[in-house]
Amino acid sequence: MAVDRKPDSFAGKDLRIGIIGCGYVGLPLALRFADVGHRVTGFDTDQEKIKKLNAGQSYIQHIPADKINHHVQGKRFDATTDFAKLREMDAVLICVPTPLDERREPDLSYVEKTAQSIAPNLQRNQLIVLESTTYPGTTEELVLPILEKGGLHCPIARGEGTENVATDFYLAFSPEREDPGNKQYGLAQIPKIVGGINPPSGRAAAGLYAQIVSKVVPVSSTRAAEMVKLLENIFRCVNIALVNELKQLSLRMDLDIWEVIDSAATKPFGFMPFYPGPGLGGHCIPVDPYYLSWKAREYDFATRFIELAGEINTAMPYHVVDALVKALNEREKSLKGSKVLLLGMAYKKDVDDLRESPSLKLLELLTGNGALLDYNDPYFPALFKMRHYDFSKMRSVELTSERLAKYDCVLIATDHSSYDFNEIVKNAKLVVDTRNATRHVKQGREKIVNC
Ligand SMILES: NC(=O)c1ccc[n+]([C@@H]2O[C@H](COP(=O)([O-])OP(=O)(O)OC[C@H]3O[C@@H](n4cnc5c(N)ncnc54)[C@H](O)[C@@H]3O)[C@@H](O)[C@H]2O)c1
Repeated sequence: MAVDRKPDSFAGKDLRIGIIGCGYVGLPLALRFADVGHRVTGFDTDQEKIKKLNAGQSYIQHIPADKINHHVQGKRFDATTDFAKLREMDAVLICVPTPLDERREPDLSYVEKTAQSIAPNLQRNQLIVLESTTYPGTTEELVLPILEKGGLHCPIARGEGTENVATDFYLAFSPEREDPGNKQYGLAQIPKIVGGINPPSGRAAAGLYAQIVSKVVPVSSTRAAEMVKLLENIFRCVNIALVNELKQLSLRMDLDIWEVIDSAATKPFGFMPFYPGPGLGGHCIPVDPYYLSWKAREYDFATRFIELAGEINTAMPYHVVDALVKALNEREKSLKGSKVLLLGMAYKKDVDDLRESPSLKLLELLTGNGALLDYNDPYFPALFKMRHYDFSKMRSVELTSERLAKYDCVLIATDHSSYDFNEIVKNAKLVVDTRNATRHVKQGREKIVNC
């Protein structure tokens, strides 16, 4: 049972912390809180994940089982599907998915269901924090009213005179900025943005997070914190679209866009490099901007940069297919009936994440046009059924020199570090490279088409 506590007490030790949603974001967060000595319980609706976690196993490639096992054995971490246990927690952090629906509009059903499962278990003085990426207003307009249904109140308040406003529980938003697989910046090194529904909520959340990250950045409201995350991801989405567009122009002008970007990046101020690719991927960048476009309509506002970036990035896999058709054509081959090997299913190098990967679109477009496709990805020995795609019959093929030589074209969609691009070019008849992965290959350059 949560004890009667002041906001500052969340900076203290020995807290019971509940993490709802044990995925790419929730699991590392849970382990980090366990690392600093709190007792953490992961809540998830997926029975299989819960079983694995309690057995000390991992289901995310970059999260070692040893680490989970260490905390399970040390009784610092367990996992459950029993949401009644939420009432035993001092703080509850929500890390559930926020995808788009079929009409590419925000699907907040996971957040809504989670708020509904907290509501009957909500305790006085409990701290609830939403971490899922979403549009400004979600915590205030969606989560707060559901939580308040049981009779406890958390008044929206900011500005002078509200520092110690009375509140029955604490509610905040703190976006997750995790970059899975990033070896330089892990959770502990990335500053955490925190905005409360009222100042005591903001202080409670800031005190809690200060224990696991190098820096907490308080902002004035949950809405500001929600917008910070969207600005970051829209910035990325728009800049990637810009280089994707300039890549296409550069190809026409016979310029090497990677040379141009790397040279521009030597400027010590005012420029930040972004790199082109076969399209946007991952759970965040292709999805999050649309949360803001949707909300902006409520204000009669058109987010034109977001729409334009979306248009350009969505068209990228189609450009890759055009380039591949042209390259085959030059070798007097049609796409229909050609054998194509796609390298890399993951949306970016060295991760086991397929979500929104442009490789899926490439598979769909190429097979749809009659090409005979195989793929290789060390992180995906087999494909499985997904929301928009079903390539569940496909298995990753082995990369041998004999096999490489059999294909009419090898398409590099993801430049995993484990690939030996010298060997790939040496053995392949034709290589279409969407990532400039073959930049250091010296022999056989006449076989490479950059696109
Ligand atoms: N993956 C990233 O790199 C990343 C980075 C920053 C922010 N985010 C944001 O973090 C949030 C979570 O993303 P993720 O990548 O961890 O997703 P994920 O799919 O890896 O994990 C979500 C987990 O929530 C569980 N879940 C779904 N509904 C539930 C419910 N009602 N109750 C309890 N558990 C439930 C799922 O079973 C799953 O284990 C999203 O809003 C995402 O936009 C993700």
